[in-house]
Order: sequence, then structure tokens, then C-alpha cells
Amino acid sequence: MIAFCCCCCVSFKTRIFFDSFESCFYVIVIHSFGILIGACVIFKQLFSRDVRVRSQVGFEPERRGSHPYLGVDFRTLHTRAESAGTIPARRIRRLFSFQRHLLSSRLLRGAPQLNPLHILDEDYCGQAKCMLERVGSWNFDIFLFDRLTNGNGLVFLTFNLLNQYGLIELFQLDMVKLRRFLVLVQEDYHNQNPYHNAVHAADVTQAMHCYLREPKLAESLTSFDILLGLLAAATHDLDHPGVNQPFLIKTNHYLAALYRNTSVLENHHWRSAVGLLRETELFSSLPAEDSLSIERQLGSLILATDISRQNEYLSRFRTHLDENDLCLGNASHRHFVLQMALKCADICNPCRPWELSKQWSEKVTEEFFHQGDIEKKHKLEISPLCDSEANTIASVQIGFMTYVVEPLFAEWARFSDTRLSQTMLGHLGLNKASWSAMEPEASGSSEEGESEPGRATEEPSSRVLSQGSQES
Ligand SMILES: *[C@@H]1O[C@H](CO)[C@@H](O)[C@H](O)[C@H]1NC(C)=O
Ligand SMILES: *[C@@H]1O[C@H](CO)[C@@H](O)[C@H](O)[C@H]1NC(C)=O
Ligand SMILES: [Zn+2]
Repeated sequence: MIAFCCCCCVSFKTRIFFDSFESCFYVIVIHSFGILIGACVIFKQLFSRDVRVRSQVGFEPERRGSHPYLGVDFRTLHTRAESAGTIPARRIRRLFSFQRHLLSSRLLRGAPQLNPLHILDEDYCGQAKCMLERVGSWNFDIFLFDRLTNGNGLVFLTFNLLNQYGLIELFQLDMVKLRRFLVLVQEDYHNQNPYHNAVHAADVTQAMHCYLREPKLAESLTSFDILLGLLAAATHDLDHPGVNQPFLIKTNHYLAALYRNTSVLENHHWRSAVGLLRETELFSSLPAEDSLSIERQLGSLILATDISRQNEYLSRFRTHLDENDLCLGNASHRHFVLQMALKCADICNPCRPWELSKQWSEKVTEEFFHQGDIEKKHKLEISPLCDSEANTIASVQIGFMTYVVEPLFAEWARFSDTRLSQTMLGHLGLNKASWSAMEPEASGSSEEGESEPGRATEEPSSRVLSQGSQES
């Protein structure tokens, strides 16, 4: 039984390798309990899993995975030569840790204290568990957490938060379905992307958690709002190709046509998330109208992260604050606040302590410059901020902070005037000063006359906005 099982695993493509291992595991469990009849059902499920659940009502979820452009596969876009050999090994390690994970979760099903970490190697386990005790801290080091969880940071963090808020119990979420959903979400991020990968998603989810705990939100949000906020954060960049919308448009990518050049990536992230929700049937026990409402609201939250629409959201927010008419007893106002919270979480990198913030800056710039290199290679116009010869990490960051991050967080601090908001603005100021010190000519006061075309000083607003659409 076990031998057959392993053969079937090997014959599957990597994409469903993970799933089949999960199924194999069931088979082993079933076998050991002598209930062979279950195996047929399991195998049937195994073969139907690769089929995307298609919508009967409402939105079409999208197929998962690689979308070629210019004959290049998205998934290999950011593969670096030195990491190529290590990916299979990493995958397998993660696979095994997931398998142990599943074992423990199945054995523990129904146990009151759900602990997702005890299957990890002992030494890492202790440290990761220890970190989770301070998961609401603004200094939380998501890079370290991701390493300690063997690259499973998004799964562990999201699971832990859902559990901590009591949402698993409240919504009667099936542990196996939930686990599978989170693993698929994590796997649908492209780990080859320097920036838009599962660690960014985990970081945004952690930031979202910090905002959900702010007094104004904590006392008004419903469990449903919190569930949506966390799910939206975890899935908001799902299957991000590592290039921005203008790139997809100018290379005639089919997603650009599908979404009519509008919020192309955000629509894709949303539909991909809906696809995974349906595939895993995570909310199948909820009434159909509730799960449809989750899908719809998830979309409205994820679409709000389109940075090219920032002004629209920001001026609405400003108007509410000026007129002091946000009423958090009203569901549509709460939803709007969640949209703003997710927007903040998505671009909060410059508000983190320097050591964390700096790493994000390096990663996002690496991704931009990589896009610029592809554009150069294919003789396409080089997108703003993507030309490594015309920009530096510092110039990109200073523009982004000045025109995108500062205005948003200034309003957020007006809405939620707490110690966290002051901390974030404090880091923002310090980080900007640090980058400015490295980039004296970009500080705006230079009159040396070396106005290089393509610098961040020219048309800063639109240039930075187009960067943002990639950073979101
Ligand atoms: C999207 O933009 C491209 C390039 O500007 C254009 O050729 C195409 O017609 C646009 N598609 C839609 C649906 O507007
Ligand atoms: C909630 O707010 C929306 C938008 O401002 C408004 O249209 C709606 O009437 C409000 N609902 C209630 C119950 O006050
Ligand atoms: Zn993002």
C-alpha cells in the first residue's frame, strides 16, 4: 500500500505533489486502521483535486499557476542560478514538516489547545513558539519567523492568528481543509520573487493583526470582519508574477485583456483566492449566501490595495475624518476601515524598524530592477523606478515614502491616534532620514544643477504611484 502510494506521488507534477502526499498520508492512516474502503474515496479525491472548481454563480475563479509572457514562465522569472539546485530539497523538507504537521493536527482534532508548532524540529519549535507570544509586536521579525518555521511562516502565522481570535471554533472550520487552504495559499506565492512572495503576505497579515488590535477596531469589529481582514491580508498578492501592471499591458498579457487593463493584478489575486476557497471548500459548511459574501468582500478588500486608486480612498478617508462621521456600528463603514487597514498593512514597510525596513527596501528594488532588466533585454520602454542605472534604493524609497506612505499614515494616525501610530510615524521619519543621508542629491534641496533625467525628482507623484502599483 505504502509503496504504491509513493509511486503515485512521484508520477504527479510538482504542483500537486504536496496534495498527493497529503492524500498518501491519509491512505497510510486508513491502512493502519484497516479501513480499506476509505482508500477508494481518497484516491477519487486525489484525482479530482487538480480540477479547478468553477463558478456557477458570481465570479469566475481563476486557474492557478504559471502564466507565460514573452515565452517566459512567471514561476522561473526570478529564479537565480545559485538557488536553482536548492529548491527541490527545500520543497521536500517543507513537505515532510507539513506531513508531520498534518499527523499532529489530525490526532489533535477536537483538542481544545491547538498548537501548530509542535511538529517542527525541537530547537526551532521553541524559538518560533516563543516569537508567536509577541505576534502583536510591531518589531516582529517576520524574516526570522519564516526561517524558524522552515519557510512556512505564512501558514503558521495565519493559522495561529485564526486560532487566537477563536475563529476556527466560531466558524467551525474543518482543520484539514483549513490547513490545506493555507498551504495552497503559501505555495501559490512565487518564492522566486525577491519581494512579492509569501513572506510579504505573512508580513502584511502580521501588520493587519496589529491594526485589528487597535482599540477603535478591536471594540467594533465583528468576528466576520476579523476573519475577512486576516484572509484578505494573507491572499492579497496571491500568484503575483513579480512584474507590475504596465508590464502586463505592454506585453499583451492575457490577464491585462481579461481585466481590461484595470486593477489587473489585484483582480487576479482575488480570483485566485476565490479559486482556492472553492477548491478546498473551506466555507462549505456556511450558508451559500455567507460564503458568497466572504468572496465578494474579500474582493473589495484586495482591490483596495491597488495603489493607483490610493487618492480615491485617501480622500474618502479624509472626508470622513474631517466630518467625523465614521460610525463603526455601520457594517459598510467598518468595511471601509478594513480597506484602509489593509492598505496600510500592505505598504507599512517604511514604518517598521530600520533593520526590517531596510531589508524590504532592498527586496522591492531588486524586483523593480529585475523588471527593468527584462524590459531592456526585450527592447521595451523601461518602467519608472525600474532602471538600475537611473535609480538607487534610496531614491526609490524617498519618493515612495514622501508621496505614498506619509500621506496614508498621517490620516491613519488621525483616525487611530495610538502609541502604535506614533511609533510607525516615528520609524517612517527616521528611515527616511537614513535613506536621505545616503542620497544627498535626492533630498530636494540640491541646487547643483545635475538634474539627471529619470530621477525621482521629476513628476514624483505619478512615478511613485506606478511604483506603488507594484509594491502593493
Ligand atoms: C489595454 O491597453 C492596451 C495598450 O494601451 C490597448 O492596446 C488595449 O486595447 C487595452 N485593452 C482594453 C480592454 O482596454
Ligand atoms: C451605513 O452607512 C452607509 C454609507 O454611509 C449608509 O448608506 C447606510 O444607510 C448606513 N446604514 C445604517 C444602518 O446606518
Ligand atoms: Zn502586497
